[in-house]
Amino acid sequence: MKILTIHGPNLNLLGQREPEIYGRQSLNMIDNEIGRRGERLGIATVCRQSNHEGEIIDWLHQAAENDFTGIILNPAGFTHTSVAIRDAIAAIEIPVIEVHLSNISSRDDFRQKSLTAAVCRGTISGFGAASYLVALETFKILLN
Ligand code: DQA
Repeated sequence: MKILTIHGPNLNLLGQREPEIYGRQSLNMIDNEIGRRGERLGIATVCRQSNHEGEIIDWLHQAAENDFTGIILNPAGFTHTSVAIRDAIAAIEIPVIEVHLSNISSRDDFRQKSLTAAVCRGTISGFGAASYLVALETFKILLN
């Protein structure tokens, strides 16, 4: 099992960016935790971050040829705006789990609608950095 984690725009600023909402852990710390949990579960993990919609779409398209068996995606702001990322998820066969650090259902009205969630296998939202770990554990159950 080989899982790709994609962090969307502004998540490179985690730790400094609105820490009362997104926590004090840096992206690097979260990626290390994902890596360690992956080792424990026997899952190979790769983590990437991009502020660019097209780059995220390219990574989704290329995931199969790069032998990924599942994708954990935090589309960040693109969750609420990107028909193109939704279409890319729908176009690939690899299962995608959408994750959010914050609980988007309890936030601003415009954040409560996810354009991407309906084409994902499921969504994990509101558990801070643990959302990513729950997604990894979920892939362990689903793909075993
Ligand atoms: C987020 C929630 C989004 O609404 C926001 O634009 C983000 C982060 C989250 O992880 O809680 O950038 O995806």
